[in-house]
Amino acid sequence: MTDNELADLSIRALKNAYAPYSGFKVGAALLTKSGECFLGCNTENASFPAGICAERAAISAAVTAGFKEFKKIAISGGKNGVITDYCTPCGVCRQVLSEFCGKDFKIITFNGKNIKAYTLGELL
Ligand code: THU
Repeated sequence: MTDNELADLSIRALKNAYAPYSGFKVGAALLTKSGECFLGCNTENASFPAGICAERAAISAAVTAGFKEFKKIAISGGKNGVITDYCTPCGVCRQVLSEFCGKDFKIITFNGKNIKAYTLGELL
């Protein structure tokens, strides 16, 4: 799967985001080393810490299905679901990614027009 295809899937996930408190909708598409793709979206809660980011939701979906080896993740996010800037994972999500992924794990971000890729090592 190409980086652009994975970014498209992250946009599909973003459309299901539940973000009534921040209004900031995020979608993530996580590709396993064996080629499966898992989606996640941020799911907020009236109690802020009970909410979960899109990236961790995608990891949780993959782990639940029995997959723990990952190749890359694409992330899209924007206010009211409108993507205008690159969205990189928060510190907690970087930490959770580092539980399963090596330093060369690829993180693909999208600003609505272009993609920009990082390695997990660069962001940690
Ligand atoms: N959020 C994500 O889901 N992923 C990110 O990479 C950045 C932030 C969510 C958390 C919260 O629901 C909203 O975006 C605003 O921070």
